[in-house]
Amino acid sequence: MMKYRIRQMKPSDVSSVVRIANQSFLETARLSWLIGYRIVQRLMSNRECLFIAETDRGDPVGFVVGELKDDRAVINWIAVHPSHRSRGVGGMLLKAIEEKAREEGVRIVETGTPFARPFYEKYGYKCVNIRRSMLLELVGRSISLPKGLRIRTIMLEELPVLLDFIGDENEWLRFAAAYFEAYESDPEKAILITNKDDETLGVAISRGEKICSELVTLSYIFAKKKEDTIKILNSLAYVVSSRGHRWLGVELPIAGITEEHLERAGWQDARLPFFWTMYRMRKKL
Ligand SMILES: CC(C)(COP(=O)(O)OP(=O)(O)OC[C@H]1O[C@@H](n2cnc3c(N)ncnc32)[C@H](O)[C@@H]1OP(=O)(O)O)[C@@H](O)C(=O)NCCC(=O)NCCS
Repeated sequence: MMKYRIRQMKPSDVSSVVRIANQSFLETARLSWLIGYRIVQRLMSNRECLFIAETDRGDPVGFVVGELKDDRAVINWIAVHPSHRSRGVGGMLLKAIEEKAREEGVRIVETGTPFARPFYEKYGYKCVNIRRSMLLELVGRSISLPKGLRIRTIMLEELPVLLDFIGDENEWLRFAAAYFEAYESDPEKAILITNKDDETLGVAISRGEKICSELVTLSYIFAKKKEDTIKILNSLAYVVSSRGHRWLGVELPIAGITEEHLERAGWQDARLPFFWTMYRMRKKL
């Protein structure tokens, strides 16, 4: 039976950490530039919560990157190489952070995770908050434009008019930020929905996801009448589907739409490796 030990992370561990991350994470954390860059920064600034798990022959097989922030310890990343999982190595890494926290008089450890909730629960962490994301799979589904509605792209010149429509300056600024985010790359992703009399009912803006071209996510939605929000979202689903994307994703909360509305319309909890529901986990030491 292989034995493992935990030690402080050193600069020479960076390439092992990036390799383990790349081979472990399902989600975007495996992007080398992101994790490599962040870990180098942390090695420069504050190493106290950076640990490596290695075999008794000194081969790194896992790591944890955490930090002490005010009254709590936060776990940013934890990973164990797939060929060394379910042998308690992840638990040893958690313990290293918890011991460090205790030494510093910190009594709370927190983290956010999309897929490792059972792992944290095994070690006494409780879920204290859920940031729910939901997905509609557009392929294999009949998606049509809601009756009586029309859709068109929002033109730059219309932004001032839409300030009147949205009514509140701060709300309009959120809309405009999302509009310009889409404008550069994908202007047709900003749409206006009207009824047949050309009366504006709402706007929706979405963005293509860099990691996965099959996914489009909602970045902004506004309906004059809250009860029309679901119609606006369905109109967006129609646009996204007609362009051949596979999934439309939203992050809740959205004013005017409940989880039940979405579930009734076929939406499901998001558990893709590039779009997910996030569980905030906490342990009191
Ligand atoms: C989560 C992770 C660090 C656990 O490492 P580990 O060395 O297997 O952990 P332990 O052996 O101490 O505990 C294993 C427990 O974690 C849970 N678990 C196992 N596989 C898991 C997985 N793929 N995802 C989440 N939890 C898992 C189970 O409860 C398991 O208990 P069991 O072995 O009794 O069934 C490891 O699975 C991993 O690197 N996953 C990918 C990266 C990741 O999701 N990191 C956390 C998000 S930042």
